[in-house]
Amino acid sequence: MKPGLHTVTDGRGLLFGGDYNPEQWPEHVWEEDAALMRAAGVNLVTVGVFSWGRLEPAPGERDFAWLDRVLDLMHGAGVAVDLATPTASPPPWMGHRWPETLPVDESGTTLWYGARNQWCPSSPVYRARSLEIVTDLVERYADHPAVAMWHVGNEYGQVCHCDLTAANFRRWLTARYRTLDELNTAWGTTFWSQHYSDWAEILPPRTAPYIVNPSQRLDWARFCSDALLDQFKAERDLLRARSDKPVTTNYMGLFKPVDYWSWAPEQDIISNDWYPDLADPRFPARAALTHDLMRSLAGRKPWMLMEQSTGAVNWRPHNLPKPAGQLRLESLQAVARGADGVCYFQWRQSAFGAERFHSAMVPLAGPDTTAHEEVRAHGLELQQLSAVAGTEVRADVALLHDWNSWWAAEERARPSDRLSVVEQLTDYYYPLWQRGVTVDLARASSELLAYQLVIAPSLFVLSDEDAAALTAWVRAGGVLVVGPFSGLADPRGHLHTGRFPAPLREVLGMSGEAWRPVDGDLSCSWRDETGFNTSGFRARDWTETIRAEGAEVIATFDDSHSPAVTRHEFGAGVAWYIATLPDADGLSALTTRFLKDAGVEGVLHSLPPNVEAVRRGDLLFLLNHGDGTVSVPFDGDAVDVLTGTPLHDGAQLAPRGVAILRQHSGA
Ligand code: GAL
Ligand code: ZN
Repeated sequence: MKPGLHTVTDGRGLLFGGDYNPEQWPEHVWEEDAALMRAAGVNLVTVGVFSWGRLEPAPGERDFAWLDRVLDLMHGAGVAVDLATPTASPPPWMGHRWPETLPVDESGTTLWYGARNQWCPSSPVYRARSLEIVTDLVERYADHPAVAMWHVGNEYGQVCHCDLTAANFRRWLTARYRTLDELNTAWGTTFWSQHYSDWAEILPPRTAPYIVNPSQRLDWARFCSDALLDQFKAERDLLRARSDKPVTTNYMGLFKPVDYWSWAPEQDIISNDWYPDLADPRFPARAALTHDLMRSLAGRKPWMLMEQSTGAVNWRPHNLPKPAGQLRLESLQAVARGADGVCYFQWRQSAFGAERFHSAMVPLAGPDTTAHEEVRAHGLELQQLSAVAGTEVRADVALLHDWNSWWAAEERARPSDRLSVVEQLTDYYYPLWQRGVTVDLARASSELLAYQLVIAPSLFVLSDEDAAALTAWVRAGGVLVVGPFSGLADPRGHLHTGRFPAPLREVLGMSGEAWRPVDGDLSCSWRDETGFNTSGFRARDWTETIRAEGAEVIATFDDSHSPAVTRHEFGAGVAWYIATLPDADGLSALTTRFLKDAGVEGVLHSLPPNVEAVRRGDLLFLLNHGDGTVSVPFDGDAVDVLTGTPLHDGAQLAPRGVAILRQHSGA
């Protein structure tokens, strides 16, 4: 069997632990760490993420002795190690001796050492030096019994605009376009006299007097994601050549610079870092959306939460702590949505450095703290859930999200910068989440047969092939919902001519002719005969002038009386188009209709506000994100697997409480 998350969870159950940076502490503290880890049920720690300078104090020198002791200690304590390549933060000697390894921003400013992440993905020196240290690391530890998996780099996202990168960008473009003519056409260089007569003229988008060519920038975004993937793969291949342990790198959720769809197949384990903003009223739903994305990237299989925080982070302007119960709630939310590991940044709070004020599993105040007690209680509780590892989450609904389209949709100089791809995604996700409808993320090119309902909140770039596939899928019985500003551009970023959205016009049974951003919000009314029982809804910022061409008009803009929402019965399926940004009530009412068309229901008939419900394997997770006690009704009998309490027809949830139920009958 291929190495994967199961390789790590087999015999261990759900993974619990965190980033462990013992190099920040004298060795006597390590002993205490090991004892505390055991007591807290820690079974996995990530070691060495930022230890390049400690492993290679000067170019070519090696000091592995301390790491030997750390790994031996962890092994003795029964804690497995996710051993990291240290390549996210080269030591100062690298930038000092080889300044070309330092990244350069759009304006030509060098980003110096003194923080982290200061490396250029195109630098041959960085590449060579990083692969040397990775080679020595894997040589030394491939067979160490503590090592259960590999962690490459950290949160890839570096970008560099230097001349070395320019040369690599040209190579990448040559492979994509073959000829300069092709490139000139793709970039539309007849505009503003941008014609290239020689490959050598081509540059990364650098600071320029005015708006830079959007097709150039789109290819640049693709290239940057690929260039980082290349570094990841180079390190991964060294690990794989010498070790059969699974390899991961940690993602950052809906992180724009890196196309995780193209990365995911290259990894043995999908892992993510998630730090909710507690000041955001929708943060629990955003967490759920992000977790669903990770599960989807993992091919609808388990993934792991590599980093979260036990309390406050230190990098927002004002860092809210987590109330009691919150860390457990967030962690179990990830488990409910397919995580087989819930780990933290970091094990022990740093006393020095840029993250002194970041919470940790062991705060500076020590283990005799409520924070650590919560950690320990949670770790021990997870041991009761070991049978959850490996089980799957099923979804009938897919939300489409595509990095290429995201990049292109948010270029400068568009009709309105109030259209945000992630906000639209969240807006459509929210009412599904509230209803306990489980959602996968997918792309238009994904296999969609498993789904009854597919929602594309924002799909600015859509190739003809993908549009044809969506059309065929609706014809065969699928229910498709398309949000505004979709189906407008081809993969080069060129807009289609004719009424929009050209490639979806047939399936949607409507077409449009103009974008009409508005200031603030405006009212929309449901058409009488459509059976919506509210008078209407409000929409904000954005309208389009569209007409029905076979579709039924469901709602109209009150100012123009032109259609705002259309619904088209097409073949055996239905296709909706939403020509605006409806408010939460509007989207909620619409979601009820989408679900009805698709014959999809939530996991329970009704859910109180702030309660999340999701089924994983044969367990039903109920998570109360609210501050009050709530009862959640369900039919039949169940047993709470954490407490062993039998339940009839419903469960009581304390504030931030979680119930994990095995149901006997009904649902
Ligand atoms: C992550 C990073 C960690 C740590 C953490 C703090 O982005 O991977 O190393 O910096 O944030 O929240
Ligand atoms: Zn560079």
